Amino acid sequence: MGKIIAVTGKGGTGKTAVTAMLIRHLLKESQNKYNILVIDADPDANLADALGVEASKTVGDMREFMQESRFTAAPDTDKQRLFESKIFEILIEEDGYDMLIMGKPEGSGCYCFVNNLLRGIMDKTVVNYDLVLIDAAAGLEHFSRKIFPELDDLIVVTDESRRGLTTAERIRDLAKEMDLKYKDLHVIVNKVTPERREKVLETAIGLGLKVIGAVPFDQNLAKFDLVGDPLTGLPDDSPAIVEMKQVVKELGL
Ligand SMILES: Nc1ncnc2c1ncn2[C@@H]1O[C@H](COP(=O)(O)OP(=O)(O)O)[C@@H](O)[C@H]1O
Ligand SMILES: [Mg+2]
Repeated sequence: MGKIIAVTGKGGTGKTAVTAMLIRHLLKESQNKYNILVIDADPDANLADALGVEASKTVGDMREFMQESRFTAAPDTDKQRLFESKIFEILIEEDGYDMLIMGKPEGSGCYCFVNNLLRGIMDKTVVNYDLVLIDAAAGLEHFSRKIFPELDDLIVVTDESRRGLTTAERIRDLAKEMDLKYKDLHVIVNKVTPERREKVLETAIGLGLKVIGAVPFDQNLAKFDLVGDPLTGLPDDSPAIVEMKQVVKELGL
């Protein structure tokens, strides 16, 4: 089984930017070393944009479809096979990686049946890859339903505010509460200003957080995002990209 890494954190902290930069790095520096699956698991999905990928149907759409057909007479094994083929249909194949968009969260009602099917399909899908990268929301919704297998690394992205850092602490506690298994939890402080860098790192260490990167506020990145250019096109010497080298090393990629 390959390595599974999830990136989480409060909205707006830069989860998607960090995930996109990780992918950029892997495509550039470790070409074809890994068979990569990227999962956009934030209902506020924007990873496809950040990667310049044309978004299509989502797992959420397929889940709704299966939810509607859960009471049909077909045997469960047929339903499983149907759902599986639907998921393969929406798998986006890009140069260097495959991508799945989870999309909207489930509606009201009981989704236990379809979630069970989905869990089985995810287990089967994930084993085809050496590296699975998940851009996840702060609430870790898909993890509370155990849709994804156990994690190797949980990365919490935060801004440099004290409140941001305590959110990282809270996510650590939340993961414990929901019994989310992971081998390592790391923190990336993002949009760091040079004046505050030292103080932020000190505070994080004081909170018992393991910081694997302090990514500077990067004008290039902000500009790329503003005009909708994919972050994979950022130049090598862009400050955030330079810091991501350290992050990749810490993750052992
Ligand atoms: N290191 C950075 N430097 C400058 N702007 C950044 C940086 N990281 C993220 N941003 C900007 O912050 C905003 C939120 O980032 P995003 O990755 O979408 O956050 P999230 O996925 O956590 O909601 C975006 O407009 C993005 O361009
Ligand atoms: Mg995002």
